[in-house]
Amino acid sequence: MPVLEGPHARLRPLTPPDYARIFAWYNDPEIVAPFDRFSVDTFEGFVSSVTSAGEDPASLAPRFAIERRAEGDVVGVVGYYRAHPVLEYTDVWYVLGEPAARGKGLGRESVELLVSHLFATTSVRRVGATCDTANVPSYRLLEGLGFRREGTLQSALFHHGAWHDVYVYGITAPEWALRKPSA
Ligand SMILES: CC(C)(COP(=O)(O)OP(=O)(O)OC[C@H]1O[C@@H](n2cnc3c(N)ncnc32)[C@H](O)[C@@H]1OP(=O)(O)O)[C@@H](O)C(=O)NCCC(=O)NCCS
Repeated sequence: MPVLEGPHARLRPLTPPDYARIFAWYNDPEIVAPFDRFSVDTFEGFVSSVTSAGEDPASLAPRFAIERRAEGDVVGVVGYYRAHPVLEYTDVWYVLGEPAARGKGLGRESVELLVSHLFATTSVRRVGATCDTANVPSYRLLEGLGFRREGTLQSALFHHGAWHDVYVYGITAPEWALRKPSA
């Protein structure tokens, strides 16, 4: 896995010293709440999913750690996965596990690096993303990168005791090539 450098963010492969910190985010309901499923896993299972992700295009494991270049600390993770058993597209996902790092453009920069990497290094023609319809930072991040809202899936995600509607976003390789980069 390469290292992807942006002005403020560096995306790099996870290393064993990262695992405990990132695993803690997975197990902290405040980090993913209120917009996503809250999962509790074993540490061994988490490490196994991270280390085997390279062989599995459908893996939901984090693919890159987000490091702040200035501080050199890991504040989030991004991933991508083949989202459908038949259709040929890749979905991206993103989490800033450190709430203090949010709202400063780091999420958008990280997703921009990831999507550019996917279009540059794979044959994928469409990159997608989904988010809870109430997750304003997530869909504004996507829209700022030029993603198109393609529709709404009704009652597609169950979390926090209720069914939630989900926006579907996408962008094609030609659209990505023509857009004005944000950085
Ligand atoms: C979603 C997330 C990655 C966004 O990253 P971020 O670095 O905080 O967002 P950015 O600073 O890049 O801003 C992206 C857009 O969201 C907006 N935004 C950021 N925080 C916001 C907030 N609290 N309320 C409303 N809008 C917000 C920004 O203004 C910007 O939109 P604009 O350019 O139209 O003004 C981050 O908030 C996060 O990790 N959230 C928890 C996990 C999560 O929800 N992941 C996505 C699951 S689909």
